[in-house]
Amino acid sequence: MEGKTAKILAGAAAVVLAALELTLFLCFRLSRPFYLSSALILSAVLACTVAALLCHHGRASRMARRLVMDGDEVSASARVVEYSFFRKVAGLPRRFSPEELATATDGFQCVVGRGSSGTVFKGILDDGTSVAVKRIDGGGSPAHSDKEFRSEVSAIGAAQHACLVRLLGFCLSPRFLVYEFMENGSLDTWIFPSGAGRMLTWQQRWQVAVDVARALAYLHGDCRAKVVHLDVKPENILLDGGHRGLLSDFGLAAMMGKEQSRVVTTVRGTAGYLAPEWLLGAGATEKCDVYSFGMVLLEMLGGRRNLQAEAGIGGSRRWTYFPKIVADKVREGRVMEVLDRRLLAPAVEEAAVRRVAHVALWCAQEKASARPAMARVVEMLEGKGGEVEAPPPSDMIIVDMLALDPAGARGGGGGGGMFGMPAMPPVSAGTASSVVSVSDSFALSYLSGR
Ligand SMILES: Nc1ncnc2c1ncn2[C@@H]1O[C@H](COP(=O)(O)OP(=O)(O)O)[C@@H](O)[C@H]1O
Ligand SMILES: [Mg+2]
Repeated sequence: MEGKTAKILAGAAAVVLAALELTLFLCFRLSRPFYLSSALILSAVLACTVAALLCHHGRASRMARRLVMDGDEVSASARVVEYSFFRKVAGLPRRFSPEELATATDGFQCVVGRGSSGTVFKGILDDGTSVAVKRIDGGGSPAHSDKEFRSEVSAIGAAQHACLVRLLGFCLSPRFLVYEFMENGSLDTWIFPSGAGRMLTWQQRWQVAVDVARALAYLHGDCRAKVVHLDVKPENILLDGGHRGLLSDFGLAAMMGKEQSRVVTTVRGTAGYLAPEWLLGAGATEKCDVYSFGMVLLEMLGGRRNLQAEAGIGGSRRWTYFPKIVADKVREGRVMEVLDRRLLAPAVEEAAVRRVAHVALWCAQEKASARPAMARVVEMLEGKGGEVEAPPPSDMIIVDMLALDPAGARGGGGGGGMFGMPAMPPVSAGTASSVVSVSDSFALSYLSGR
């Protein structure tokens, strides 16, 4: 009932009641029947008022409920989309149900990548966002997969940067991580010769190097908690639609207090990118990331893996260690000879190549203290502060791949170790025994001591 009609009715009822009272008074005067009939009328009016009030309240709440459900599913799903939109804008990862992820990935059909900790599927969310859904397998052991899951969520949750791949959400059981989808995949497929025939130009490689260096500088210094990534390699660098680099895969990342100088953590990761001091049991620091970044930069420069088997005389295989070759050529002033041959036309400026080679060799210094901080690496790459001087000679301790099972040392990048080998087995760092266990399977040796 509308407010105006109610008022008219109430007014009319009051007039009728007054007239009735007057009639009763004229008929009975102030006698007993007059008081009795007045009491009856007043009780009836009171009861009607209370009933009307209750009825109005019930109707109002029914209306409110109807408003919430109004538009039925449209409104409900709009609210979900709105809620996830605000979480997304705020950069907060949301929780997904296994069913949602199964629907988004169309039953986990399209595999876009595999790494040491899981399988990655392409999917599309209800709001149209393309996502990469990573199922954490963790190399078999549930305890280990749990650890990787926690590292990844906490490390990337503490960090937000344009050059870090964005975590959109997760599912707790089973373990899934949902990332924004990077349509150009990982860097390895763009710098090493592959069947796909795609390749980054010099300028694009330089830009990706700067992007990753910025991401690491942020993680090491400017982020809420200091984060060390500990698995920087081409397979963990993704490219967006504009071929800009984004650092991904925080499965091995460790968080450090601002005052903490090193973290004692299990040595894991990929042979060829691990800093010698970490392998030798001295714990991990941000300088381990600097070393790995230097190794990646060298591979971007040469368009080849740092350790590569080449055909020798009489069908034999000869192993070449690219960082050593670059160091020698730089010293001899013949840096253009190490540049990826596919980049020679159109001509690339020699000064730019020399600068990148110098930066890479500074980062790959054996002595952690000689390596620059990532913030300085960004400046060096961008040419701020003048020429980058030649780095001092370094011993170049490397993990000797020759000791590996030849069956494992076949080509391909995959997402595991170098040459498609599985990532290094976990060994306990912090004691001398870690070196022994590493040497059991990977045989540490000096290939190129000077
Ligand atoms: N967000 C993404 N967009 C597109 N491809 C991705 C994405 N995340 C991972 N991949 C692909 O899956 C591979 C493995 O993912 P990664 O996170 O490195 O897993 P793992 O921890 O097992 O190494 C990557 O090398 C890349 O090719
Ligand atoms: Mg990976």
